[in-house]
Amino acid sequence: MLIALGVTGGVGAYKAVEVARGLQKHGHDIVAIMTASATQFVGPLTFEAITRRRVITGQFETGANADIEHIALASSIDLLLIAPATANVIGKMAHGIADDFLTTLYTATRTPVVLAPAMNSQMFSHPAIAENMRTLERRGVRFVESGEGYLACGWIGKGRLAEPEAIVATVVAVLRPATALTGRRVLVTAGPTYEDLDPVRYLGNRSSGRMGFAVAEEAARRGAAVTLISGPTSVTPPARCEVVRVRTAVEMHAEVMARADAADAVVMAAAVADYRPSVRADQKISKGSEDLTIQLTRNPDVLAELGARRATRGHGPVLVGFAAETEQVVARARAKREHKQVDLIVANDVSRGDAGFDVETNAVTLVGATLTEELPLQSKSRVAEAILDRVEPLLAARAVRVQARRRTSRR
Ligand code: PMT
Repeated sequence: MLIALGVTGGVGAYKAVEVARGLQKHGHDIVAIMTASATQFVGPLTFEAITRRRVITGQFETGANADIEHIALASSIDLLLIAPATANVIGKMAHGIADDFLTTLYTATRTPVVLAPAMNSQMFSHPAIAENMRTLERRGVRFVESGEGYLACGWIGKGRLAEPEAIVATVVAVLRPATALTGRRVLVTAGPTYEDLDPVRYLGNRSSGRMGFAVAEEAARRGAAVTLISGPTSVTPPARCEVVRVRTAVEMHAEVMARADAADAVVMAAAVADYRPSVRADQKISKGSEDLTIQLTRNPDVLAELGARRATRGHGPVLVGFAAETEQVVARARAKREHKQVDLIVANDVSRGDAGFDVETNAVTLVGATLTEELPLQSKSRVAEAILDRVEPLLAARAVRVQARRRTSRR
């Protein structure tokens, strides 16, 4: 896999050379990006000799912009690692400042990001810097814990760059977790549906697609072949997924039902409209002097249909739904799990401003047959990890059932 190794200006920059070597030993290809201050600590030639690639040291180098390099690299890397990550680069990343190649690459990529911070211990515990790290963590950035001891500045405390082996181990774990999802086919739905009233108006909802995209991305990262069926959204879907675009609930129903038989697991994070206008006007509806009444027709319940189909046949994919609720969240989610006959329901309290629709974070409770697990507020990628951690044993149990069925049918 291709890893972008960002090196920023800290004494520990020399350790990044060892990190690059360690990652190469695991078969990864490295492209090094050095900030201007990093080049004061280690020469780019050292990284060039080790990585056997041109080292990127500036945004505006001659020859580097023909294909808008940071965008090209952003979509071709499998992971961005920054080691050492200074307080400065962490602050810029937390606030979306993209004023050099490395920070621009960070804002342009959607791959996993790992930071190995290194700084003076006083800086490390400064509230502004601690808050910046928490912000990044909430957005899904992973940190390799800094070491404690004598620092280059003469202080004793926390802030030393983690050892290269620890950094390499974290990256390897992020890239290749061996899981029950590896080689499985996963179908994920995301985003809203738009139910057209006329050529210019529709009934919709505030779903951005982020939650479903995070699940799709995490499943792909664990080695699953992912098909993502997405309603209309401006958020970019993750790479490495087959993306099917739909607009309406009826379209989503058709695409999901056509593919669900081939899937090992279906995760429905989409906010599917329960109703659509009974009539879609061919022309824009003109304003009249009276109030306007719109009649709505019930849409198919995709998840409930999948659950019923599986119950009738006695076999089918692992089924995970979400329940977006504003009151009695867990109780209603539990009722939905039973009614829709699914394995797991992710109860989502969408009355909170920091969870649910169109935000980067979520706070959910996982509800299974014998499970009620409340998760703290965290990034949607972390929520996706927790959901898939629960899906994996369900997949493993399903694989055992599938094998037993095959043995019986051969007899
Ligand atoms: O997209 P984001 O901005 O990241 O926001 C995430 C989210 C809030 C949309 C997501 O976390 C979430 O809660 N999704 C489910 C929203 C929803 O439609 O909930 P529901 O309780 O109405 O539906 C229950 C389940 O049945 C869902 O899995 C839904 O996909 C499914 N459903 C609902 C209606 C319908 N006609 N067909 C369905 O399959």
